[in-house]
Amino acid sequence: MENALPLFLVMSPFLGLALMIIFSGKAAPMAAPESLYEKLGGEAAVNAAVDIFYRKVLKDDRIKHFFANTDMTRQAAKQKAFLTMAFGGPSNYTGADMRKGHAHLVAQGLNDAHFDAVMEHLGSTLKELNVPGDLIAQCAAIAESTRKDVLGK
Ligand code: HEM
Repeated sequence: MENALPLFLVMSPFLGLALMIIFSGKAAPMAAPESLYEKLGGEAAVNAAVDIFYRKVLKDDRIKHFFANTDMTRQAAKQKAFLTMAFGGPSNYTGADMRKGHAHLVAQGLNDAHFDAVMEHLGSTLKELNVPGDLIAQCAAIAESTRKDVLGK
């Protein structure tokens, strides 16, 4: 016990420093980097984008036949959840993985040209919603990264 006080005195500058570091972290927490989902405008923006996107898709003679037997209300909900997750938002997607979810369409002839048409509609939708070009490029890159799975390659 005799040595306890001097040891404390020796250690106190380090303890003080440690406490300062701990509490400075608490007082000014590092802001988490904003996700693409947040930059786009969150739920409202993704919902608006998916609705506009499917309106375009269903008007497009190159690809609309793939959706002939699809319940579009359920489809839009799945696409919203999928894109929310893909863009770094909350992960509530419970649908099929991209390969399984499109396998029956590949059997019907789904190919790169159809995928390109979907990419075109995604880009023009985001442009219409005044999403800045760099964010459109990030969204396009994420969508593009699913190409092999969607097309079963
Ligand atoms: C950017 C690439 C794509 C993404 C991220 C995407 C996303 C999705 C998702 C999340 C689903 C729901 C899967 C499930 O049933 O659980 C789905 C289904 C579907 N996708 Fe895609 N998709 C893409 C490309 C395409 C393309 C190129 C076409 C056709 C032109 C297409 C047509 C369909 C159809 C028709 C369904 C519904 C099938 C059914 O009714 O069961 N998708 N897609």
